[in-house]
Amino acid sequence: MTIVAVFNQKGGVGKTTTVLNLAAALTRRGCQPVGIDLDPQAQFSSISGILASSPDDSIYSMFQRNRPLQDLIRESPSGIRVIASHIELSKVDALYGKGYNAINRLNTSLQAEKSASGNTSWIIDCSPLVGAFP
Ligand SMILES: Nc1ncnc2c1ncn2[C@@H]1O[C@H](COP(=O)(O)OP(=O)(O)O)[C@@H](O)[C@H]1O
Ligand SMILES: [Mg+2]
Repeated sequence: MTIVAVFNQKGGVGKTTTVLNLAAALTRRGCQPVGIDLDPQAQFSSISGILASSPDDSIYSMFQRNRPLQDLIRESPSGIRVIASHIELSKVDALYGKGYNAINRLNTSLQAEKSASGNTSWIIDCSPLVGAFP
């Protein structure tokens, strides 16, 4: 299992573009990666063609309701596997407080996928906010 997090505290520096291109290239090679949108602005979800109509369809429900990542994966029109974001994700700091709690929650979920999803690559589009997901 490979986990790649693309982060930078600035917006507009190419994080989302990098995640999309990396996910698209790996998908084309038959690797079936999963792109996780951790930015509440949901730009990666949007340009992939995957919009979460409610927080329950997004990565937020992993944090809020302990949903397994596997349940949240959807396939984009171009065949990229995506876990969408939702504006409610901006409340994760309030749910977990600052610090490592939210990060640990995500890490626990990713590790739980190790046995279920085997060799999957997870590519994470981080938010530019200085919070749980800097
Ligand atoms: N390598 C690049 N060369 C030129 N423009 C780029 C490049 N990567 C991204 N962009 C453009 O820069 C803008 C911001 O990119 P984006 O990936 O949304 O940044 P971020 O996710 O860091 O906010 C977009 O309009 C995108 O098309
Ligand atoms: Mg972005």
